[in-house]
Amino acid sequence: MKILISGAAGTIGRVVVESLSAAGHEVVGFDLASPPDGVDVPWHLGDCTDPDAVEAVFAAQPLDAVVHLAGHPDELDLPGSLTSHVVTTAALLDAMVTHRVTRFVYASSNHAVGRTPRADLVGVDTRPRPDTFYGVGKVAAEAVMSLYADRHGLDAVACRIGSFLPEPLTRRHLATWLSPADCVRMVVAALETPAPGFAVLYGISANRDAWWDLEPGRTLGYEPQDDAAAYEDQLPRRVEDEIEGAYVGGPFATEQFHRPALDTP
Ligand SMILES: NC(=O)c1ccc[n+]([C@@H]2O[C@H](COP(=O)([O-])OP(=O)(O)OC[C@H]3O[C@@H](n4cnc5c(N)ncnc54)[C@H](O)[C@@H]3O)[C@@H](O)[C@H]2O)c1
Repeated sequence: MKILISGAAGTIGRVVVESLSAAGHEVVGFDLASPPDGVDVPWHLGDCTDPDAVEAVFAAQPLDAVVHLAGHPDELDLPGSLTSHVVTTAALLDAMVTHRVTRFVYASSNHAVGRTPRADLVGVDTRPRPDTFYGVGKVAAEAVMSLYADRHGLDAVACRIGSFLPEPLTRRHLATWLSPADCVRMVVAALETPAPGFAVLYGISANRDAWWDLEPGRTLGYEPQDDAAAYEDQLPRRVEDEIEGAYVGGPFATEQFHRPALDTP
């Protein structure tokens, strides 16, 4: 497959670029940043919010799929979050329609439902319940994907990633961890599952203490193999653990993230 990876220079992007390339896919990077040292794939420097820059990337080579990882992975004010997550998604989807590229895989987030109180396993049919403007951006980006799937027949899989880390670091990560190897399994499943239309899965490992339902992902072919519980003994107990366990969004659902929507300096 010839796959455009936006955010290819990022934490997740570097892992996905390397693994998909090693698996024999033709990977093309697209990022505001230059390729990291050691990354040797075709590369476009540019901004996913700029439709002309996106069009130039799509015009440069044929593509089979887009894996959209570009975006600010933290809280911003509302306009910043909508630009980083919704505008980038829409610009890529528009180019996909123009160039007849039909598979889109998106790095959404657990924060799309982060204000859900921690109780039962959270499924994909629960109401969107963002915990931050970051989460609002992810919910809205998923809505744009749904619109384009319905209007244009695209296949668009939103992967609500938990905590992508080499190893879990806190007790919350017992539930939220996504190992690098499982992240690659997730992206491959989202790329290869036949005709998903618009679909949502939770991007976490096969964690014993998972807060999100892995079954929708399994239906799409995502079979995670790692489990944060293997690291349980090395995870410190902290005073923050209880408050971080009240809502599935953890710290993002706490008061420290409250801010005005239009937070101009
Ligand atoms: N890391 C996690 O645990 C996690 C969890 C949930 C969701 N996500 C989502 O996954 C995606 C990647 O996260 P990450 O941790 O690799 O972040 P990162 O900051 O390490 O990488 C993001 C990359 O995107 C690029 N980028 C940002 N805006 C861009 C734009 N407008 N045009 C082109 N490139 C742009 C940056 O230069 C950077 O290289 C983000 O959308 C993030 O919200 C990450």
